Amino acid sequence: MASCKRLRHTLTMTPAPSAFGTDLRPLFVLEEGSVHLNHGSYGATPFAVLEAQSAWRTRMEAEPSRFMEFEFRPAVRAAANRLAPYLGVDGDRLALVENPTLAVNAILRSLDLKPGDRILINDQTYGAVRNTVRFVCSMTGAEIAEWTLPFPAESPEQSLAAFEMALADAKPRVAIIDHVTSATALVLPVKAMSAAARDHGALVLIDGAHAPGMLALDIAALDADWYTGTCHKWLFAAKGCAFLWAGDRVIDRLHPAAISHGYGGGFCEEFDWVGTRDGSAHHALPAALDFVDRFGIEAIRTHNHALAMAAGRRLAGAWGTEMGQPESMVGSMVMVRLPDGYGSGFDTARDLRLRLLQENAIQTRINPLADGLYARISSQIYNHIAEIDLLADAVLAKRPNG
Ligand SMILES: Cc1ncc(COP(=O)(O)O)c(C=O)c1O
Repeated sequence: MASCKRLRHTLTMTPAPSAFGTDLRPLFVLEEGSVHLNHGSYGATPFAVLEAQSAWRTRMEAEPSRFMEFEFRPAVRAAANRLAPYLGVDGDRLALVENPTLAVNAILRSLDLKPGDRILINDQTYGAVRNTVRFVCSMTGAEIAEWTLPFPAESPEQSLAAFEMALADAKPRVAIIDHVTSATALVLPVKAMSAAARDHGALVLIDGAHAPGMLALDIAALDADWYTGTCHKWLFAAKGCAFLWAGDRVIDRLHPAAISHGYGGGFCEEFDWVGTRDGSAHHALPAALDFVDRFGIEAIRTHNHALAMAAGRRLAGAWGTEMGQPESMVGSMVMVRLPDGYGSGFDTARDLRLRLLQENAIQTRINPLADGLYARISSQIYNHIAEIDLLADAVLAKRPNG
């Protein structure tokens, strides 16, 4: 099956942006017959990128010592430099890491936190990030301060106002801000939030796990101290490809979570080698960016945003409900409330999600929020509005007592 799809992908000409939609599915490894509306969780990698990754692995195993000692690090640097312009940063401030969890661990473990220092998070901070904050606080005597990010969201200004109140209250040493929240898919006004945090004297960590490829990025202009994001979600890289950017105020005291041979050698030296590992997801990043460039990053973003909005309106109409955010807070994912009667809570959400997968071959997130359930729909270049109608009908057909 895979080799057959591979042949098709090889023969496919670069389509015009208007050809976005299910015609592009053969470029991806995704199993046939499924409706994949959950690109946001782990991405979906094209065949072309996996082939490039496999070529890097073969190159590594052909002469392991030469590769590890002479070729590994230059290839990491080349990939970081290639990525830099997509993010609006210089390559020498960019480290490639496996995932944002590792980046956040590096950041928080590098800080000289003291008893009484506060780290500001919110009720939607990603679970692994929250746990890392809990861990460093338990080790240092620092404290967690938490604010509530309004959801359903009315406007970016509403989120900013809630954040400003929390800053004034907590006076944190570090503020952690999501660029796009995970469970609620809200695009937050990070530039204004970063400025507000700086006004209160806080160091600013932006968790942009979802942002690269979804939003136009100019990270250097955000005046943050650290920014982490993934390439394996919305930039089509192989899994285990993420980055960490560091600004002037912190770069000299930032170390990887695993200290290795490069310790003391500076940011790139320390992060480019963290022990023997398979770096092929990083080495193949240029192939993922080639894939992006075939379509154009703006054309991809425009398609994904338009389809996310169309999906939000279509589902809200079919279900007689509403979206969880205004268009100004939508990137390539949208939240839509399920009709009343579907219950609430984590187990109910997971059961419905599993039924959609097993009975309808539809993969989407169902999240328990605001005393009900919300669907989180991801929109990518291989999706089409007809898939949204399938989801609308499948959910209605499962209406309890319906
Ligand atoms: C907001 C946010 N932060 C961090 C992460 C971390 O991801 P990982 O578990 O791959 O490190 C994710 C993953 O989806 C996320 O959505």
